[in-house]
Amino acid sequence: MNRKTTGIWAAAALSLMLAACGSSAATTDTAASAEKTEAASAAEETKQAAEKTEGNTAVKTVTPGSLIMCTNAEFPPYEFHNGNEIVGIDVEICNAIAEKLGLKLEIEDIAFDAIIPEIVSGKADLGAAGMTVTEDRKQNVDFSDSYAHATQVIIIREDSDIAGPDDLKGKLVGVQQGTTGDLYVSADLGDDAVERYSKGMEAVQALTQSKVDAVIIDGETAKQYVKEVPGLRILDESYTDEEYAVAVQKGNTQLLDAINTAIGELKKDGTFDKIVEKYIKAE
Ligand code: ARG
Repeated sequence: MNRKTTGIWAAAALSLMLAACGSSAATTDTAASAEKTEAASAAEETKQAAEKTEGNTAVKTVTPGSLIMCTNAEFPPYEFHNGNEIVGIDVEICNAIAEKLGLKLEIEDIAFDAIIPEIVSGKADLGAAGMTVTEDRKQNVDFSDSYAHATQVIIIREDSDIAGPDDLKGKLVGVQQGTTGDLYVSADLGDDAVERYSKGMEAVQALTQSKVDAVIIDGETAKQYVKEVPGLRILDESYTDEEYAVAVQKGNTQLLDAINTAIGELKKDGTFDKIVEKYIKAE
């Protein structure tokens, strides 16, 4: 955002503040309420002017000029720490979306099961966390068009006799808390069959230490973990098929439409594939 638009936003904020002051004043005072209407319409005009200056990309965000993405950066190759930086497919996609919207991407790294509440309460603009679209989640947030196909897979120790999902009965399964892995295994095998960890990698470490019999987690993340941790393998038969999408606050169609347009453009011009190829090497 350039200096001029920042100024306009500041003016808009001031007018809004004046409008807010007006509304708290005694409403029986006609002068005060006239002032209030005036201030409110001035705020509206300034806002419209600001939107014009921003061009057709002016979407309302939690912090003007920024696009706040909340994620859980424990999920390579979608989001993970690289030194002090958070990198990954979701980060680069959201950066490209933010750029298209003329906004600066800000990343909030929180627990996976805190992402939807963060969006619902209006503290972040979007959630991008390799998040699977589910009917339950759709009750609380709106999802963009899907940007990746995913699976839940079963990781076992190399010497394990578990050969497929049916063999999980009576076993203890490690999952990342609040993920679809957690939700499906709890539903299929019962709460007692699930050991929840705050990070996927913690579940994988528990598996190597024989504290759990298997880990159910997203396929691409599983591949990364198994590459890093010796003695593990992934079963060919996957547990579920899913779609990843970006989550926004329910009813925020302006932002959702802008995200979908941006995703469409990024897919079309090849940026999207380039980002994915950078993190997921073709086998
Ligand atoms: N796809 C799974 C889900 O939506 C797991 C996502 C975990 N993501 C993360 N950044 N830790 O529940």
